[in-house]
Amino acid sequence: MAKILIKGGKKLEGEITLQGAKNSVLPVLAGTLLCDEKCVIHNCPDIADVETSVKILETLGCVCKREKKTLTVDPSKASEIEIPDNLMREMRSSVVFLGAIIGKNGKAVISSPGGCELGPRPIDLHLSSLKKMGVTITEEHGFLYCEAKKGIKGTEITLGFPSVGATENIILAAVKAEGLTIIHNAAKEPEISDLADFLNSAGARIYGGGSDTVYIHGVEHLRGTEHSIIPDRIVAATYMSCCAVTGGELILKGAMPSHITSILSVFRDSGCDVRVTGKSLKISARNKLLRVPTIRSLVYPGFPTDAGPLVIAMLCKARGTSVFVENIFENRFRYADELKRLGAKIETQGKIAVIEGVESLSGATCKCTDLRGGAALVTAGLCAKGETLIDEIHHIERGYDNIVSTLRSVGADIQYV
Ligand code: EPZ
Repeated sequence: MAKILIKGGKKLEGEITLQGAKNSVLPVLAGTLLCDEKCVIHNCPDIADVETSVKILETLGCVCKREKKTLTVDPSKASEIEIPDNLMREMRSSVVFLGAIIGKNGKAVISSPGGCELGPRPIDLHLSSLKKMGVTITEEHGFLYCEAKKGIKGTEITLGFPSVGATENIILAAVKAEGLTIIHNAAKEPEISDLADFLNSAGARIYGGGSDTVYIHGVEHLRGTEHSIIPDRIVAATYMSCCAVTGGELILKGAMPSHITSILSVFRDSGCDVRVTGKSLKISARNKLLRVPTIRSLVYPGFPTDAGPLVIAMLCKARGTSVFVENIFENRFRYADELKRLGAKIETQGKIAVIEGVESLSGATCKCTDLRGGAALVTAGLCAKGETLIDEIHHIERGYDNIVSTLRSVGADIQYV
């Protein structure tokens, strides 16, 4: 596998058009399974997780065709119900196909999902919710055999935690269920709204997507539809961090500023100048970055956990000490040891990370531990003195559409080796 080599110190300047959101396109692709006719998905990012999703859809009997950023899925002949173990292990979000397969066929077979090493990634909320909808689930040899013998019944569900994946799975299973399903304490992330918009455009009857209470009236059929995926708010945070650490100026086009208000405020607190005009935002960091006393990751609309690694990489060079409190995942600081190889001063203890700003970072060899941790290493490498060589970059390829050519296009000295 190739590695990424960065020669740090170049200011980033120019324009970037944001890719479609990984965490929206994946549940939307699962949702195409529920449709009776062809779906056309626009603004589909060119990332490994989409390739994996296409393999899953084809394994289930769909016919998929990609033309640049448009993916066409014909689910009309899809009748398979099992996702092969190797594909389940390739990405955690394959669990979101569970709700779609059961919603379509009334039964499904999956193995326990893989994904990033962010601590235990249980799916108890997914499974307990599906059971309440009439799905029996038995586990044998690491496989889950799911079946709704009497069909899926709408019901009221209260989530103990507003889990993004569980909310998506319930919606996907409920769209063609018998009767009304109500989700209380649902996740409110923009990706949930995008999934509901996609399904409603195909004839579903979902109300309150993106709020903490979602109503899904079961329907018989979903027709084919066209849908454009929302921009990726975490990729936006990534390129903003890359700009901030290099003291540059970037314009991000195709953004949805209303989705990233909590992210914008952290960049402004760190001394960046951020201006929003319509669907574009301009960030410049002409001055030394300032510490941000405390940032807490929270469910939406709070500061997103996925943007944590990116702002922590940025704060490694800020003046003063910042504190990041990770409230969503249990073990999300594995990349901090890799940042320390570049001279960062970070101490982590459980869910707390203390980042003491240093004058400069110095290039080193390092390796990605997970998707956003890998992007944090790229961010740090862009401002480190000398060369940074990053290994295990398949983690980054899962969620970033051509990150190397994108950063080169705005002045970074970065290449695959
Ligand atoms: C989604 O993961 C995203 N992935 C994650 O992005 C994101 O960090 C996360 O939501 C939170 O926003 C996709 O959408 C593909 P959760 P998901 O269910 O659905 C616990 C990235 O970088 N939990 O909201 O897995 C869980 O352990 C990825 O793009 C249970 O305990 O997140 C975690 O601590 C990383 N039981 C917390 O809830 C369950 O049944 C949040 O999980 C489900 C979750």
